[in-house]
Amino acid sequence: MKYNLSEITEIIKNRRTIYPKFFTSRKVHKEIVEHLLNNATWAPTHGNTQPWRFKVFMGESRSKLSNKLGDLYKKNTPRELYKDEKFEKIIARPFLSSVSIVICMERGGNEKIPEIEEIEAVACAVQNMCLTATAYGIGSFWSSPKIIYNNEMNTFLKLKEKDKCLGVLYLGYPSIEWPKGQRKPIEYITDWNE
Ligand SMILES: Cc1cc2nc3c(=O)[nH]c(=O)nc-3n(C[C@H](O)[C@H](O)[C@H](O)COP(=O)(O)O)c2cc1C
Repeated sequence: MKYNLSEITEIIKNRRTIYPKFFTSRKVHKEIVEHLLNNATWAPTHGNTQPWRFKVFMGESRSKLSNKLGDLYKKNTPRELYKDEKFEKIIARPFLSSVSIVICMERGGNEKIPEIEEIEAVACAVQNMCLTATAYGIGSFWSSPKIIYNNEMNTFLKLKEKDKCLGVLYLGYPSIEWPKGQRKPIEYITDWNE
């Protein structure tokens, strides 16, 4: 065996969504964030377009992200769906997280690559980050409120029209016991053809 498979399997199985309300105030250092981003870039990418783009918000800049998400929620949520509780949650997340990484897809000029494949590549990159975070004992939460799929969000992030914001990855050290996950056995999700 070339690698330690039991360790990689443990990391994959232990990657868990941990919500910012369960993060401590312990800082995630910039060197660790760089490690996450570097590992992200080793995801598969059709045509090697490397469509992932990341906007990191940490320290003071977290207020910019919080303000924008709050603004977008207020402006774009129909009255009957608007909830103060939800607004408070949205604006609190960047502050509860040591680091917030806005996940973006740059739609390059290579029209031969379908957009969905560029999005898939970014999702693989995010998984690399989440696995690396898990190895550091850092929790992650991929948040995708509807308000991010919006031209104003693109402008805020300095994205072009065809680019897409795919969510925010919130990172922090958990204050709770590392959660356990559950998955369906492969019998439920696989058709074998032999
Ligand atoms: C593309 C994507 C978007 C997600 N968006 C949200 C979200 O907006 N809110 C949320 O609570 N969880 C979100 N999640 C996290 C899932 O809820 C979580 O992965 C799922 O509950 C399984 O838990 P686990 O990550 O601990 O295995 C998202 C996950 C993915 C892959």
